[in-house]
Amino acid sequence: MEGLEESFEPVTADGRPVAEQPLYTRSQLALRNGQDRDEIWVAYRGLIYDVTRSRLWKRGNHYEHWAGQDLTRELDQDAPHTPNVFDRFPVIGRL
Ligand code: HEM
Repeated sequence: MEGLEESFEPVTADGRPVAEQPLYTRSQLALRNGQDRDEIWVAYRGLIYDVTRSRLWKRGNHYEHWAGQDLTRELDQDAPHTPNVFDRFPVIGRL
């Protein structure tokens, strides 16, 4: 991504560009559901966000939605907020 789009690049945990973030499988994502491991991850539009430090995602549960999966459709259809809620959380990988 270049030019104007650059300013929309999400924050990544390690400071490297999104395109260089590691690829994870759905099974690897599923382990970060807030139950099996300490880390809590949520995927949205191909990117995986680390929401471990959010008190709104404690134990992986957020208003009847579970972490450890791709919640693109759920956010776009059910959420009362925009994807800007991810602004505070770093991208740690790609799905
Ligand atoms: C019934 C569905 C949902 C409800 C009622 C809900 C409600 C809320 C509320 C009230 C907040 C805090 C205020 C705000 O930022 O607007 C919030 C934050 C957030 N939501 Fe949702 N949400 C829903 C679905 C989702 C889904 C499907 C996702 C993930 C794709 C998501 C991701 C987040 C994130 C990452 C935050 C920020 C948490 C923080 O700042 O600690 N939400 N949500």
